[in-house]
Amino acid sequence: MTLPRFDASEFTAITDAMRTAFARDGVLVLDNLVDAGACDTLRGHMDMLLQNFDPGAHRSVFSTTKDSHAQDAYFLSSGHRTRFFFEDGAFDKAGNLCVDPKLAINKVGHAMHDLDPVFDRFSRQPRFEAICRGIGMQAPLLLQSMYIFKQPKIGGEVVCHQDATFLWTEPQSVLALWVALEDATTDNGCLFGIPGGHTGADQPKKRFRRTGSGHQTVMEVLDDSPFDEASAVPIDAPKGTVLVFSGLFPHLSAANQSARSRHAYTLHVIEAGAHYPDDNWLHRPTSMPLRGF
Ligand code: FE2
Repeated sequence: MTLPRFDASEFTAITDAMRTAFARDGVLVLDNLVDAGACDTLRGHMDMLLQNFDPGAHRSVFSTTKDSHAQDAYFLSSGHRTRFFFEDGAFDKAGNLCVDPKLAINKVGHAMHDLDPVFDRFSRQPRFEAICRGIGMQAPLLLQSMYIFKQPKIGGEVVCHQDATFLWTEPQSVLALWVALEDATTDNGCLFGIPGGHTGADQPKKRFRRTGSGHQTVMEVLDDSPFDEASAVPIDAPKGTVLVFSGLFPHLSAANQSARSRHAYTLHVIEAGAHYPDDNWLHRPTSMPLRGF
């Protein structure tokens, strides 16, 4: 199947056709929602942040195929900070960076939307709020931001998952806004997703949460049936396209073996009225509560 695409260059509100597609597929493809200049501004700003970052001081690898990062205090305390995570292939066996540091970062997260004026402005653009409310959210709160690099040659695979696994609310309410800051194609590791895969259950198949004293994490299996990955379709996203998807939408991406990067910015929004359990990995101190648009 092919997912419908909507030209959102003149976007002001979610239409009935968009709402229908989102309810059926679990994902909405909004082309041209963000203009190219805004994408470039965010990329340039991240470039500046990286220039000021010392890669030797904070060595943490982000991988969805290994759980080494999970026990990492640097990761677990990043929910209210701006922190830098490296690619799996960025270091040699001796632990030395084997690529240019600027090309060795996997992602930056998870609170730039509240800490950095440029990310704050980008994240709180009126069109994003209109999407959340048009999809049916009553009081959207911005929970998490991530800048994802998907580096040329070393950008790692992301296995099939549902974002609600990592951002649990009761009832489930997480909505993802995934912004292509560069063209994302099957060559450089665009998202794949399973249309309709968000239906059939009101919770994700797994839950990633803190355990014990809260310094460790566990991936709890709630439903051990596999995702129907044979039904996954590529979701090409030209620069400026925004993918809006449910926290229950199963998606994945292949490693980037091309010579082109695939920068993306993602924002996760939850409903203010939903319960946010204390054992979620992402914590905020009381001095820094979640904010809306
Ligand atoms: Fe995801």
